[in-house]
Amino acid sequence: MTSNCLTIDVGTTNTKITLWCNGIPEIKQFVTPKKTVATQTNFELSYLWDEVIRTISSFDPISLKKVTRIAIASFGESGILLNEKNNPVGQCISWFDDRAQIIVDQITEEKKSRIYQLTGLPVNAHYSALKIAWLLKYDKTITMPLAKYKWLCVPDYLVYRFTGNLATEYTIASRTLCLDIKTGKWSKEVQQLLGISNISFPEIYSAGCNLGHIQGKLGKLFAQECQVIIAGHDHMCGAAGVGLDETELLDSTGTTEAMMTIVEHFDISSEAQKNALANGIYVDDQHYTRFTAMPAAGSTIAWLMNLCRINENKLIELMNEAQKGYDDHSLFNSRVLVMPHFNGSGAPNKMSSSKGIIYGLTSQTTVVELIFGLFLGLTCEFKIAYTTLFNSERYHLIKVIGPAAKDPLWLELKADILQANVISIDTEQAVSEGAYTIATGRHLKKKVRKYVPTVDVHKKRYLKQMLETYKVIYQNKISKNL
Ligand SMILES: Nc1ncnc2c1ncn2[C@@H]1O[C@H](COP(=O)(O)OP(=O)(O)OP(=O)(O)O)[C@@H](O)[C@H]1O
Ligand SMILES: [Mg+2]
Repeated sequence: MTSNCLTIDVGTTNTKITLWCNGIPEIKQFVTPKKTVATQTNFELSYLWDEVIRTISSFDPISLKKVTRIAIASFGESGILLNEKNNPVGQCISWFDDRAQIIVDQITEEKKSRIYQLTGLPVNAHYSALKIAWLLKYDKTITMPLAKYKWLCVPDYLVYRFTGNLATEYTIASRTLCLDIKTGKWSKEVQQLLGISNISFPEIYSAGCNLGHIQGKLGKLFAQECQVIIAGHDHMCGAAGVGLDETELLDSTGTTEAMMTIVEHFDISSEAQKNALANGIYVDDQHYTRFTAMPAAGSTIAWLMNLCRINENKLIELMNEAQKGYDDHSLFNSRVLVMPHFNGSGAPNKMSSSKGIIYGLTSQTTVVELIFGLFLGLTCEFKIAYTTLFNSERYHLIKVIGPAAKDPLWLELKADILQANVISIDTEQAVSEGAYTIATGRHLKKKVRKYVPTVDVHKKRYLKQMLETYKVIYQNKISKNL
């Protein structure tokens, strides 16, 4: 009997569930359940679980019965506390929620440095440990903050619901701020520094390890021997899916945008700490990752589509018009630049309170110029992080995955502004493909499109001016904490 595989990619905006039969995917997706009140957003885990099961149950039962592996990829950082009876307590704070900044502000610089030395991560409100500290201190539904609790990140929670077992995986553990990057074990010292010593974390397994069989009636949907595994942190799964090597940089787009590389050694130098470089353990357990995320990318495109009341087809039409204007130089009068700090700024100057800016508006500004200015701004922001955090000389290729692969203008600007070779991986769901590869060891064929840096001197001159303008605004803004 041929065996099938099921992958689950829990994303910030959408959760994708894919049934793989003979390497052919059937993808279904639903909006990841979230609840926002004022500035605070929670993921709704019990609804997420219900939707996962509802979606899985809508696949062909005969194909499901051949599923021998369920592989979970997910965003990192968010999770839930369990009490001694393993019941969830408190709330599942979304990874991008900044409410734990109040905890970060109370941590001394000395402690922050020590935590960077231990974990390879800059102290930031997004990591699990800060969310835990916030929950224990400020969540009024947690009446016994000193009691013993367990912490599960979102994919660990799904594993627990499927199998009843408590387990996590290295790339997910790498986003908690409690993993000792040198030993690959949980750090008691970090927990003590953050006042969360009463929390226990699950055992850590390698990506792709069997974490258990499915309990109860649900198990009858799948093959008897079906195993549940964690494929890993979504961006790292994407890297595995496109076979990223040490000479390439991954640009993983979604609601946000992340850049990462795979390296032999982690970097916890003072320069790396200053730039907020995030180190982690890679899915193969043998390498480390160097990582940074820009807190807004696809979300700024969603904002623009909402603002202008256009759908994705119209966006693509306007983007093509902008690309034409770029290629024939007719857009070179435009000075519009959108600084995408819609959800705070990213590395090398991470500031959660930072706000976005639109520069260069005139009474003649068109929507096409605005779209062009948004892609320019996203690329300038990327360029600043890329040149500061990654020694760009070392990387001969940038591989782009996620929805940005549908945006030739954005990809062309990336090649031109970064003066780098860029390839977009033309696949519907690179993260799910990576999870499939991790689960089965099988690699899928990919269609790629290549973008090389422009040699057009007029384009180069225009982009140089725009990048300089961007940097002036950026530096002034950051230096004034705006
Ligand atoms: N053509 C496009 N170019 C870039 N982004 C787009 C495009 N169309 C939609 N998006 C954005 O892509 C995002 C959704 O993509 P996706 O489902 O890959 O994200 P996600 O997996 O939920 O997020 P993440 O991986 O950051 O957790 C939305 O923010 C949406 O606005
Ligand atoms: Mg995603």
